[in-house]
Amino acid sequence: MLLKNNKMKVLVTGGLGFIGSHTVVALQNEGFEVVIIDNLSNSSEEVLKGIVAITGKTPLFEKMDLRDKSAVADFFKKHNDVSGVIHFAASKAVGESVEQPLLYYENNISTLVYLLQQLQEKPEAHFIFSSSCTVYGQAEKMPITENASIQTAMSPYGNTKQIGEEIITDVTKVTNINAILLRYFNPIGAHPSTQIGELPIGVPQNLVPFITQTGIGLRKELSVYGNDYPTSDGTCIRDYIHVVDLARAHVVALQRLIQKKNLEKIETFNLGTGTGSTVLEVIKTFEKVSGKDLPYKIVGRREGDITSAYANTDKANDILGWKSELTLEDGIASAWKWEQKIRS
Ligand code: WQD
Repeated sequence: MLLKNNKMKVLVTGGLGFIGSHTVVALQNEGFEVVIIDNLSNSSEEVLKGIVAITGKTPLFEKMDLRDKSAVADFFKKHNDVSGVIHFAASKAVGESVEQPLLYYENNISTLVYLLQQLQEKPEAHFIFSSSCTVYGQAEKMPITENASIQTAMSPYGNTKQIGEEIITDVTKVTNINAILLRYFNPIGAHPSTQIGELPIGVPQNLVPFITQTGIGLRKELSVYGNDYPTSDGTCIRDYIHVVDLARAHVVALQRLIQKKNLEKIETFNLGTGTGSTVLEVIKTFEKVSGKDLPYKIVGRREGDITSAYANTDKANDILGWKSELTLEDGIASAWKWEQKIRS
């Protein structure tokens, strides 16, 4: 149960992005006042209209780049009543990070440092960090718990998530900042209103947007990256979590810190459904919800892919008090509805 909030102002960085925009909606629906920072490098101001169309409330919006240290300081002078931050803003394309590591270290690490430098000046601050199951690499044991070992990152992107978690851990030890690290599994889907959803730029790297773009005829066929993995049908297993469930988890986590329910200065939670699905199962689900045959071909494995990752959700369910409610089918159906809407 989420408490109604008396208009507490929360900063959402990357709030016009895929997960960010869904989280802004969830925050507004719970009575928070939201201010968004976004540099529009991977989103557009159109998303603001979608948010308002759903909640009827216009979030404050500052177009700025968090790499500009003085702009970050000016922001916190102007919005000195912000003590809660949900930090999404980051570059997140695994392949691109291999080609341009410094772009990722600058954009994902320096921006985090500048935010924390501002928050450490406050009597108390609540910080929710967008992390990823990528930090586990190929975990030994399924489902994956939060104390599974952190493997050497397979990409600079994954490394920035690991480094980010370490920075936040060190900072919470010596400041009034409390933090929660949320390790997402595979976010999919769109808001049921079809007012907001995923807007991948160029050729989608991720499975579900590639499937929906193939379904709508934008792509000729899906390449399935390998069917020789040690799984039920030879294709990789992932834990596909609906973005609406994921957004709600961020509000629950922020509430936890505000109400001082956190057991430590920093806590970590896996956010998944607890169920793994293979690539072929995702394809079959799409075909079921859309009534269309999806053209696909099996090709070689993609560099860096792991065989299997799905979450142990006990800690999120029992400690955080959050549980995913929407299914893979809900996620695929909402993604398909969104794809049809934006291409109509
Ligand atoms: C899922 C499965 C592919 C595309 C990535 C990031 C991770 C997180 C979630 C941010 C894999 C297969 C995919 C395609 C395919 N993002 N696939 N054909 O790689 O599990 O995770 O997104 O935190 O950090 O790494 O997601 O959707 O790319 O792939 O066969 O055209 O679908 O091999 O098995 P991934 P994905």
